[in-house]
Amino acid sequence: MAENTLNGSVALVTGASSGIGEATAESLAGLGATVALVARRADRLEELAGRIRDAGGTALVIEADVTGREAAEQAVARTLEELGGLDIVINNAGVMLLGPMADAPIEEWERMVQLNVMGALYVAKAALPHLLAAAENGPRGVADLVNISSVAGRVVRNGSGVYNATKHALGAFSEGVRQEFTARGLRSSLVEPGATATELAGHNREEVQVGLRQRFGAMTRLEAQDIADVITFVVTRPRHVAVNEVLVRPTDQEQ
Ligand SMILES: NC(=O)c1ccc[n+]([C@@H]2O[C@H](COP(=O)([O-])OP(=O)(O)OC[C@H]3O[C@@H](n4cnc5c(N)ncnc54)[C@H](OP(=O)(O)O)[C@@H]3O)[C@@H](O)[C@H]2O)c1
Repeated sequence: MAENTLNGSVALVTGASSGIGEATAESLAGLGATVALVARRADRLEELAGRIRDAGGTALVIEADVTGREAAEQAVARTLEELGGLDIVINNAGVMLLGPMADAPIEEWERMVQLNVMGALYVAKAALPHLLAAAENGPRGVADLVNISSVAGRVVRNGSGVYNATKHALGAFSEGVRQEFTARGLRSSLVEPGATATELAGHNREEVQVGLRQRFGAMTRLEAQDIADVITFVVTRPRHVAVNEVLVRPTDQEQ
């Protein structure tokens, strides 16, 4: 892909402070997009913005907790005000808290629903009018909403029921957006990674992490960049090509 493929585009990436979001933001910036970096850890976002600027790109740091509706709306509003448009949104921020439902603190379920579902919905709702405007008048004649789901959005496993529920919900939302707006040039895509080496699993209770290490320890997991490559592929297709859904597992991962 040419370095200037996304020149003139503005991309907002949630969860840009680590893992898949960080790699994706850097990749989009490398293709010429101006990027709004959204997450709670401002120091990590500043580091990333520094790297992007050193490489000749443009980045705006937005410290925000997208589980708050107003914060999500303001993140979108600031992107518009300071970067002058918005034609790509990567709804990536997420949390995965696993383990048997019987033992799970209900707060873990609340965190997952509030971020994986409501956070994504708040960002999408605030961004929709601007994405539609960009599809009509913007640099590419098309706009992209990319929702980061998971294999867990396709396959339910014993021990991850509520995470499964949040990612299935995101998949349904993504398809609903696609059907409603595709005729107006807004592509809504779902990317479903398998096991990827990021900070995600580290937020689990220790007893859950032990099980995860047993399951994934011997596996060569995907790198965040592998998923960033898929996301950049999705948003750089010609206007008439909409990649609706992509499931990407490590070769070693059966389920
Ligand atoms: N890693 C995998 O194996 C895997 C597999 C399938 C799907 N996924 C999905 O990929 C996405 C990215 O995860 P990752 O693997 O890259 O994990 P990660 O490294 O833990 O990244 C999660 C990102 O979400 C941000 N975040 C968390 N709470 C937030 C909040 N309230 N407001 C704004 N941002 C928030 C975090 O930043 P702050 O803490 O700075 O806010 C961080 O940047 C998630 O949706 C996850 O479900 C991952």
